[in-house]
Amino acid sequence: MAKLTVKDLELKDKKVLLRCDFNVPQDENLNITDDTRIRASLATIKYILNQSPKKLILISHLGRPDGKATAKYSLKPVAQRLKELLGQEVIMLTDCVGETVKKDIESAKETLILLENLRFHPEEEKNDPVFSQSLASLAEVFVNDAFGTAHRAHGSTEGVTHYLKSASGLLLEKEINYLGGALEKPKKPFIVILGGAKVSDKITVIENLLPKADEIIIGGGMCYTFLKAQGQKIGNSKLEKDKIDLARDILAQAKKQKVKISLPIDNLVTDKIGEGSKVEIAGEDIPEGLIGVDIGPKTIDNFCADLKGAQTILWNGPLGIFEIDAFANGTKKVAECISKLKAITIIGGGDTAAAISKFGLEDKMTHVSTGGGASLEFLEGKTLPGIAALTER
Ligand code: 3PG
Repeated sequence: MAKLTVKDLELKDKKVLLRCDFNVPQDENLNITDDTRIRASLATIKYILNQSPKKLILISHLGRPDGKATAKYSLKPVAQRLKELLGQEVIMLTDCVGETVKKDIESAKETLILLENLRFHPEEEKNDPVFSQSLASLAEVFVNDAFGTAHRAHGSTEGVTHYLKSASGLLLEKEINYLGGALEKPKKPFIVILGGAKVSDKITVIENLLPKADEIIIGGGMCYTFLKAQGQKIGNSKLEKDKIDLARDILAQAKKQKVKISLPIDNLVTDKIGEGSKVEIAGEDIPEGLIGVDIGPKTIDNFCADLKGAQTILWNGPLGIFEIDAFANGTKKVAECISKLKAITIIGGGDTAAAISKFGLEDKMTHVSTGGGASLEFLEGKTLPGIAALTER
């Protein structure tokens, strides 16, 4: 990597500002329902603490509070979880910038300090230089480990790098190595699995991956637009009418570039989407009135047979509506199948990561990304501002 990493920095007796992505899901009582992102930040936190810094100041956003301080979006539950996971005290301040924060950091008896939600200040999302400078003035060096927010040019991801030497954290580096490695030099055969609700969300990813992949497997809501483009009947399944031509184009381009595109040959269908709804298997054509909600058993066998031949597998987007147990089988079976392979298995963040976690298979994958929007933009080949802004080596 051409950028500085945390390992390049001299951190002893320094005040270190560390941007994490602690944007974790919570229930109505503000209990954290999935602490993956907090656990993923521990390696960098522990590494920095081992270098005996003067202070380690953690910053993050949580949710979208629209520039207003609200208890609902406080990082307090994150401070508590960090304490439990690290087994050490974490001081939580009530703001993230200003003279009081500065003084409290100076006088803090503990090394590890978490500041309150950056997005309580509208200037964070506006990437306001005065705000970025105030953040920078808290420390002597900046480390960005927030891969999940690297696609946002905000005060704490991009702005702050104008005022401090800025390096990537271990998580950010790992994400770039795995996702970037799959894009640049994948071990072949390289198979991409794409799913999710809409073709329109994945067009740029398909265009970026088509020249690199040996095969693209397509499932999820987006596959019905492709099936329609092939002339099949899709009943009442999800269709993006204005993307049928585009899907046809992609199929033609793939043929020209000798990239195999695999689509479902059978489908799990229902007449009503919801828990406990009646399901049946339809073949290639879905009868009128029925909705495709998952891939069928023959398709699962086909996809798994192909995946067995891969050296690198990159997966972005579930293959059915996995949030509803009755429609989760396709995503689950394919996840189980790739979890047993020796191939490099890279899971995009967001829904795909949530599905893998629901099936308890995270530890069986080579890498599960912590970035939803960020991993999608990375796979689209876009430059992420939070990465681009880091100091060159
Ligand atoms: C995410 O959850 O994808 C990141 O934390 C970014 O959050 P945002 O979409 O609210 O900017």
